[in-house]
Amino acid sequence: MPVTRLVVLVSGAGTNLQALLDAAQDPAYGAEVVAVGADRDGIEGLVRAEKAAVPTFVRKVADSATRAEWDRTLTETVAAYEPDLVVLAGFMRLVGSDFLGRFAGRVVNTHPALCPAFPGTSGPADALAYGVKVTGATLFVVDEGVDTGPIIAQTVVPVEDADDVESLHERIKVAERTMLVGTVGKLAREGFTITDRKVRIGT
Ligand code: GRF
Repeated sequence: MPVTRLVVLVSGAGTNLQALLDAAQDPAYGAEVVAVGADRDGIEGLVRAEKAAVPTFVRKVADSATRAEWDRTLTETVAAYEPDLVVLAGFMRLVGSDFLGRFAGRVVNTHPALCPAFPGTSGPADALAYGVKVTGATLFVVDEGVDTGPIIAQTVVPVEDADDVESLHERIKVAERTMLVGTVGKLAREGFTITDRKVRIGT
């Protein structure tokens, strides 16, 4: 079976990336991380990739004249690694139309809330402020909206009375990593289809 080529994009600590790198050590996993990209330098996520001897690149928005140019540069850079799947794992930028056009239906993102609730960059804080009793993480196929794409998998965690944003996000991230690794492996080994927003894994 051919190994699925993953390009992973990160903006921070990269614990989700690390979970993928660890899983991909096993040939039976069915996927390998062929490159790691970031929108900023000096982050732990890039260090994790370097330690795993995976090629890295940085494309900062500020280095491009326009947002569209940044999107084109990012698209070309990622395309050079010929990914089967692009995984946004804590990538804190919205990819644009060039990127989505080139990798249509093959870009997945993990969001630390139960979509469609609490989209955007402060999912754990918004869930806490709202007072929900459960929250979690969602893996979805990226579309042009903010955390609106077809849902591939979700995982649920409780919100505890004593939680602050940090403790809640940490609990979410433990479940999120398990979901991400398990689901990306299945996508790689079994493939998937999307019909009327319904994602089905396997043929
Ligand atoms: C994850 O919870 C991701 O969903 C969110 O930011 C966090 C990134 O964590 N967007 P890490 O960089 O993978 O540790």
